Amino acid sequence: MDQNALKQAAAQAAIAYVPDNTIIGVGTGSTVNFFIAELAKIATRIKAAVSSSEASTKLLKEAGIEVLELNDAGTLSIYVDGADEITHHMHMIKGGGAALTREKIVAAASEKFVCIADQSKLVDVLGKFPLPVEVIPMARSYVARELVKLGGHPEWRMKDGKAVVTDNGNWILDVRGMAITNPVSVEVAINQIAGVVTNGLFARRGADVALLASPDGVRKLGA
Ligand code: 5RP
Repeated sequence: MDQNALKQAAAQAAIAYVPDNTIIGVGTGSTVNFFIAELAKIATRIKAAVSSSEASTKLLKEAGIEVLELNDAGTLSIYVDGADEITHHMHMIKGGGAALTREKIVAAASEKFVCIADQSKLVDVLGKFPLPVEVIPMARSYVARELVKLGGHPEWRMKDGKAVVTDNGNWILDVRGMAITNPVSVEVAINQIAGVVTNGLFARRGADVALLASPDGVRKLGA
């Protein structure tokens, strides 16, 4: 089974968690793209979606799903999103796709977070995947120095020789070398640095359910 088939299996399993006639939150990434394709098949069952990125908004609209601003939507029934790493405690690293800030906001506004991923994302300790930190551009160098003091090795995210710019107009630092044994306190500590918009640790508000696909089937963690 290739990785795309696993992502699709996790995405299909998440459809069972979508309540009828509600507004749902939709994340970002290749696994979520499969979820949006599944959602298209049941589009009439939901009221609308709130999206965590311009990329997902485009796909949702193409699938015939109405996309609302979060400010007009109130509390969302569920939020479905992928992860770069997830632990058995349901703490995650996210932001490989640079959408971490909007993802964190939409997740916070949702009653239930359903994480969809292939089984390879399950880890004992977070931090092998570089931790993304979204920064206000003028603070990049200062924030990087502060992250070094916390034991990390920050690297300015580039693509094709240019700084990656988030949907919010900011930059990303990817922090290597952090074995994150206490994700809640690391999440809080990094968010205290002036100039940090947010970091990709989803520990204070982790996932409620994780649907992890392997060749043996989709394993569920959480309630
Ligand atoms: C984007 C994210 C994604 O959820 C994360 O990177 C996982 O992506 P994929 O499903 O492509 O593996 O946080 O900012």
